[in-house]
Amino acid sequence: MKSISGFSKLSKADKISWLAKYFFTSNPVDIVREFASFAHTNVETQRLFDGISENTLTNFYLPYGVAPNFMINDRMYCVPMVIEESSVVAAAASGAKFWEDKGGFHAEVVSTIKVGQVHFRWEGADPEKLERFFVEVEPRLREGVTHLVANMDRRGGGIIGLELENCQHIEPGLWQLKARFETCNAMGANFINSVLEEFARLLQGEVRNNTSFIGRERTIEIIMAILSNYTPECRVKAWVECPVETLGSFKGNLSAADFGRKFVTAIRIAENDRFRAATHNKGIFNGIDAVILATGNDFRATEACGHAYAARNGQYASLSHAEINDGIFRFELDVPLAVGTVGGLTGLHPLAKRSMELLGNPGAHELMEIIACVGLAQNFSAVKSLVTTGIQYGHMRMHLTNILNHFGASEAEVERAVAYFQDKTISFPSVREYLRTQRADNPRNSELKDGKLPAI
Ligand code: MEV
Repeated sequence: MKSISGFSKLSKADKISWLAKYFFTSNPVDIVREFASFAHTNVETQRLFDGISENTLTNFYLPYGVAPNFMINDRMYCVPMVIEESSVVAAAASGAKFWEDKGGFHAEVVSTIKVGQVHFRWEGADPEKLERFFVEVEPRLREGVTHLVANMDRRGGGIIGLELENCQHIEPGLWQLKARFETCNAMGANFINSVLEEFARLLQGEVRNNTSFIGRERTIEIIMAILSNYTPECRVKAWVECPVETLGSFKGNLSAADFGRKFVTAIRIAENDRFRAATHNKGIFNGIDAVILATGNDFRATEACGHAYAARNGQYASLSHAEINDGIFRFELDVPLAVGTVGGLTGLHPLAKRSMELLGNPGAHELMEIIACVGLAQNFSAVKSLVTTGIQYGHMRMHLTNILNHFGASEAEVERAVAYFQDKTISFPSVREYLRTQRADNPRNSELKDGKLPAI
């Protein structure tokens, strides 16, 4: 039976055995062994990972790398990155190196305010009556959540503002209570959601007990209370700039001036063509997500927010901008980022903790600045490749070892192939053909791997 109740209650071994029985074709003993082989050797550490999610069977590894030489606001960082795409760390590192001797990266947090919403239905006939009521009740709502907010208040955060918004354009009778928060070094999702749910409860009571309301005015129906992952006020700007002539010279005989001009045009395309904009911003998030993951932050929230912000003017567009003014090339990124440096996975995952240490244990502001700069470096390197050599030149070089591994190439074959493809076009078929000829011409070249001749 492929359907099951109470799966979460099974032991890990029973979960894997059940999967092996119904979903895998290999021998169940091999499946159990394979899943177990990815478990952490330290039982306590494995227990910690098991607890992070649900129905955990084993761990799914992703490479953890670093991009050194990031000069940001005159401070040098070595940035941790977790990512599965081979060229991303290399691109970030090359962007960092490129700007290191040109003043490095600059970054500035615009603000760090987050938003939460309580959507509710109130079917009174006079909207002004609810608006007057809200002015009267607002201090009591704030008062009613002091037990939840006290800690955050002490750390310099808390509730920044409360507003009532009429949402009748969505549906008759619909309103929302919009709250703005400062959550300091915490991402603050649990804090915000707890406060919002308390607001919802308090609001219901206040409406019920308000003597100026009559009949159906005395009830509100709470639709939902939840933070918004759209945080246009929790935002950071990062930029690089230098005189055009100091950009250097580029592959394909491109002068600094030509490079600068082509680069600015490439960004303008991403600012106006949404097909290009999505790929362009994906490149930015290649860098951002990798640091977000390495520091135990929420990459889904970051992506959702970034893409919503990219469409803030009604058309999805590039998050970065480039221009040349008075001979100065300037490339900048303006991106919302809601991150935490305390609580959540950051304080739990042993490698996330190491990432924070590697970065000098930054607060949320500094981490936002670092992440934005990595996004900008990533974007710079990608567009630099696009307007010079083309992306495949570097990509396929990075991908060569993956292709060789796919064909089970031995270490000696990898070494020879890397040398051979130095000045040749790399593709799946070209690598396959190369290996086939090599092995046919000289069978000893293909050495045995794990006791077998690797198959092509
Ligand atoms: C690939 O992961 C990212 C790029 O496509 C970004 C871009 O095109 O700007 C190279």
